[in-house]
Amino acid sequence: MNMSRNTIIEKLYNGFSQFPGFWEIDSIICRATAGSPYRSILIRNLNLSIGSTVLDMACGTGLNFPFLINAVGSSGRIVGVDNSEKTLKLAKNRIARQNWSNVSINKLDGPEFNGKMVFDAALCTFAIEIISPYRETIQTMIDSVKLKGRIGYIGFKYSKNPLLKMINPLWRIACLLGGGADLERNVPEYLRQNMKEVFFKEVYAGFYYIGIYEKQ
Ligand SMILES: C[S@@+](CC[C@H](N)C(=O)[O-])C[C@H]1O[C@@H](n2cnc3c(N)ncnc32)[C@H](O)[C@@H]1O
Repeated sequence: MNMSRNTIIEKLYNGFSQFPGFWEIDSIICRATAGSPYRSILIRNLNLSIGSTVLDMACGTGLNFPFLINAVGSSGRIVGVDNSEKTLKLAKNRIARQNWSNVSINKLDGPEFNGKMVFDAALCTFAIEIISPYRETIQTMIDSVKLKGRIGYIGFKYSKNPLLKMINPLWRIACLLGGGADLERNVPEYLRQNMKEVFFKEVYAGFYYIGIYEKQ
C-alpha cells in the first residue's frame, strides 16, 4: 500500500517526538528555540494585544506559546493545531508545566480545523513548507481570522546571498531529509499572489523568511 506524503510526515514527526532531545537540539541549530529572535519578530508584528485570540497552526511542541502568552495575557486565548499525536503530547506537557489555562491544542490535519472568523491572528512557524496540503492549510488560516486580522509565517527558502546561494542545493536536501520541507513550493510567492503582504524579512542568512499578510 502506498502511503501519502501527509501520512509519512505525520509518522516522521511522531518518530522525532519519541526523543524530546531531538527538538532541543534541532531548535538550537535552527535558531528556533522558545526564545528565538525570529519567533519574537513575527509575533511582535501580528498586532496582538491583551485579550486577543490566536491560532498556532502546526504548533509542534508549543515553542511559540511563551511569546504568545506574553502578547495576549491571561485573558487571551491560544489554540494550537497539529496532526502529530506524539508531538502534541510534548506540547501538552509544556502547557501543564506552565499551568497555562488559556491554551488548548487539537490533533487535526491543518485543513480540518474549523474556526471561521474567530481569531485576531494566526501563525504557522517552520511548517508551511512541510505540511502536505499547504494551500488548503493557508486557506484555513485565512478563513479563521477576522477581517484585517494578520497571518504570519516563518518558513524555509533558498538564499539569495551571493556567497551562500552556492549551498542552496545542500540546503534543499537538508530541509527535505531533516524534516520534510519542500523548498520548490516557493510559499512566499504563493502568499504574495493571494494576500496583502504587510511585512517581509529574510533572516538566517536568507535561508528563512518571516512574512506577514493581512486579511482584506
Ligand atoms: C518543524 S515542525 C514546527 C513546529 C512548530 N510550528 C515550531 O515552530 O516549532 C513542523 C510541524 O508541522 C506539523 N505538521 C506537518 N504536517 C501537518 C499537517 N498536515 N497538519 C498539521 N500539522 C502538520 C508536524 O507535526 C510538526 O509539528
